Amino acid sequence: MENKASLTPVRPETAVKNRYAAAAKAPEAALCCPVDYNRDLLKIIPQEVIEKDYGCGDPSRYLKPGETVLDLGSGAGKICFIAAQVVGPNGRVIGVDMTDDMLEVARRNAPIVAERLGCANVEFRKGRIQDLALDLEKLDAELRHRPITNAAAFLAADELAEELRITHPLLASDSVDVVVSNCVLNLVEPRSKRQLFAEIFRVLKKGGRAVISDIVSDEEVPEAMQADPDLWSGCISGALTEEGFLKAFADAGFYGIQILKRDGQPWRTVQGIEFRSLTVEAYKGKQGQCFERNQAVIYRGPFKEVLDDDGHHMERGFRYAVCDKTYNLYKKAPYASFFDFVEPLTDIPLAQAKPFDCSRTARRHPKETKGQGYQATTAAAQCCDGGGCC
Ligand SMILES: C[S@@+](CC[C@H](N)C(=O)[O-])C[C@H]1O[C@@H](n2cnc3c(N)ncnc32)[C@H](O)[C@@H]1O
Repeated sequence: MENKASLTPVRPETAVKNRYAAAAKAPEAALCCPVDYNRDLLKIIPQEVIEKDYGCGDPSRYLKPGETVLDLGSGAGKICFIAAQVVGPNGRVIGVDMTDDMLEVARRNAPIVAERLGCANVEFRKGRIQDLALDLEKLDAELRHRPITNAAAFLAADELAEELRITHPLLASDSVDVVVSNCVLNLVEPRSKRQLFAEIFRVLKKGGRAVISDIVSDEEVPEAMQADPDLWSGCISGALTEEGFLKAFADAGFYGIQILKRDGQPWRTVQGIEFRSLTVEAYKGKQGQCFERNQAVIYRGPFKEVLDDDGHHMERGFRYAVCDKTYNLYKKAPYASFFDFVEPLTDIPLAQAKPFDCSRTARRHPKETKGQGYQATTAAAQCCDGGGCC
């Protein structure tokens, strides 16, 4: 991560918790960033939740019916309540926040939304988003029986937390279709940011995706600015640069990373550095073995050439050999419209497929997909419905 450790005597996390505990009690205008939400989906959300909105984007726009959604730093619950309507009765939404006062507002309003919606598909859990395995309310309950009064008790509590992560995780691995977040990742301390992205990756199912709106900067945030607790809790000091934000997803193992929305106008400019909202989508699921099934892909353009996340360098219009995994990934979002797909004439069952070396880029001769002995000659195909082109 690019931000250096904070020099502030107030831990950023404490500053964040205090600021959002206050903002849960009374709306704070300075924390609002104008967002164009779908007004139809706001109708059933209580006014209190709407007023205590501290988001900077709308990741709920990219959700689909039936999905299981996790909202990181759910605050008063607005994105969760919008998402509940999009995913519908066959989907579910889990909001995670570490601030009690925010959880109180969200949980108090959840039954009202459920009644108006006709289904209760939202719940709120207490945790830190960089440690999604640790259920802070379970830990609280355990520690009530064994308060921490000395170093030995502190170490025992640490061990207990580790045990809870394994036996009763707040969020299980591979359990969520989409992780969303609205203006929260920047609030996590630099030393925990790598773990934060790793946790997002862990909880997603294979094939799942993250859709994250956050504040990013156009230049590195200098250390002096990181030392200001107000700038910290105000979504400034912890902002990653635009390119650093994208790189954090790539470093965590995501693929298909793309900017869905970038605000042209900065939300704030501080000491000449522009801070703006960015919404990014990133997929989990390219991990795994590579097998040769004689498939090929053709990059359609519009660019002359592209470089994919695995280092394959492909020129427009040429056939390239890819492994079965890449072939199937490219058939889905976000790649499908950029490629044409060439199936081999004779299918190689996966169980019989040989390993494929994904570290190199290789063109694929048509004879490889058709078979070396292919010599067919056919009549013209009926390519047009009664048209005159054939
Ligand atoms: C800027 S507000 C955004 C709230 C909400 N997403 C929205 O759109 O209104 C940040 C929220 O994230 C929570 N938060 C900040 N850092 C967190 C962390 N490390 N773990 C869990 N929650 C965190 C705060 O308590 C607060 O509710």
